[in-house]
Amino acid sequence: MTDKTSKRIRIFDTTLRDGEQTPGASLTADDKMEIARQLSKLGVDTIEAGFPSSSEGEKKVVKDIAKEGLTSEICALSRATKGDIDAAIECDVDLVHVFIPTSPVQMKYAVNLTPEQVLSATIESIEHVKKHGVKCEFSPMDATRSEMPFLKIVCQAAEKAGMDSLNVPDTVGIMIPKTTIKLIEELRTVVKVPISTHCHDDFGLAVANSLAAVEAGATQVHVAVNGLGERAGNASLEEVVMALHEIYKYKTGVNTRLLYSTSRMVASLTGIGVQANKAIVGENAFAHESGIHTRGVTEKPLTFEPIKPELVGRTRKLVAGKLAGTSGIKAELEEIDIHPTEEQLKEIVQRVKELGDKGKMVTDADLLALSSSVIGQVIREEKIVDLADIAVMTGIKVIPTASVRLTLDGKEYIAAETGVGPVDAVLKAIQKLTNNLENIRLSEYRLEAITGGSNAVAEVIIKVADEKGNVVSARAAREDIVMASVEAMINGINKLLIKNRKQGNKK
Ligand code: KIV
Ligand code: ZN
Repeated sequence: MTDKTSKRIRIFDTTLRDGEQTPGASLTADDKMEIARQLSKLGVDTIEAGFPSSSEGEKKVVKDIAKEGLTSEICALSRATKGDIDAAIECDVDLVHVFIPTSPVQMKYAVNLTPEQVLSATIESIEHVKKHGVKCEFSPMDATRSEMPFLKIVCQAAEKAGMDSLNVPDTVGIMIPKTTIKLIEELRTVVKVPISTHCHDDFGLAVANSLAAVEAGATQVHVAVNGLGERAGNASLEEVVMALHEIYKYKTGVNTRLLYSTSRMVASLTGIGVQANKAIVGENAFAHESGIHTRGVTEKPLTFEPIKPELVGRTRKLVAGKLAGTSGIKAELEEIDIHPTEEQLKEIVQRVKELGDKGKMVTDADLLALSSSVIGQVIREEKIVDLADIAVMTGIKVIPTASVRLTLDGKEYIAAETGVGPVDAVLKAIQKLTNNLENIRLSEYRLEAITGGSNAVAEVIIKVADEKGNVVSARAAREDIVMASVEAMINGINKLLIKNRKQGNKK
């Protein structure tokens, strides 16, 4: 485990195990493999690939991941039973993670075992793993609600049986940093093996508790990308890693520049989105709207950014809105090569604020249109992507299907997709092309009816993002929802490509 002198903390990733237990998350075998490859590239020390005894399919995926030759160590989860351990070992993993509850409530109601039975199962199962020459991490599940004398007995017996590391799960997330420090310090007096933590976020304290455990001497943390996991989730990988690097000045093996792309991949494959205000990977984590902030960050980023967005694979975003200031809007316009005079800029800011005051979100496309009318010239809308044709089919017995023909840099591409409805199908077909060609995907979709009735005008507001973390918003309003969606999407993609290419030219 960690060499304490260099303070290198091991990152044990459980996105593919506890993370997959997130209600609503579902991953295919291919998805799991894709995420495992990315996690290894990211540099996590251990990938908990799954729970082999849970199904034949799961066993096969864990085995395939173990065979993939990844740099990260591959781990399989196992209950403290011979059958589970054998299933894990058959997957040829580097590490078996054995768990059994030690709290009174879980021993009685979750597994119906007496403390004596828990103790002997602990010893027998760790010995069984070690007999196969495989490394074993042991977790006394619900450690934080266990009675200390019994917990100590189990941990000591586990060490004697050969466990290589002790993981301390805060299974229902009831710790605070102070109690975490006390617990880890106390366990360090009874075992010599490296200590790890596994914190759940039921009270939003998983990251703080994981860091507290490190302060108390834990040398490994269990984390999951985007904080996925049972109920409120596990400690978030990106938050723990960045706090360790930037606040504690500790090292991990993680290449932080891949954090954002990893987060996006996991969000898109699990179908669990990331809240906009989430630290490090949320859409707003490096976005600034209010005048004083945008002015500050454009003059000196350190004013309102604790870290450079590039460090985590992102870019800064200045947002136009009612709180926006002149310098922020000026910088935003300059990014897309628009240089208004001082008078024009004043007027643009005024109009942005008026829109914001009406409760309207000011999209990037709005800013462009507004500037265009103030400057008195139509700002030439570059069209890198143009829609050539779409065909949509839907019905009671027909799976909604869409085919799209579009041009990108003058070259024609065609894609077809199915979806839960016509809008879904058509947007998926467009994304299939733009994702493959330019790594652009839809990050938000909002539909609003502007007028009532069956011929209501539908307003669609979308956000599209690229792998560098650039996000662009656009809107379109039409009576036909499908066409409004397509128009907003194509609009957004064009804005993003223009921005992207301008950034590329500046380098
Ligand atoms: O939360 C928990 O206790 C777990 C165990 C399997 C370690 O996920
Ligand atoms: Zn857990």
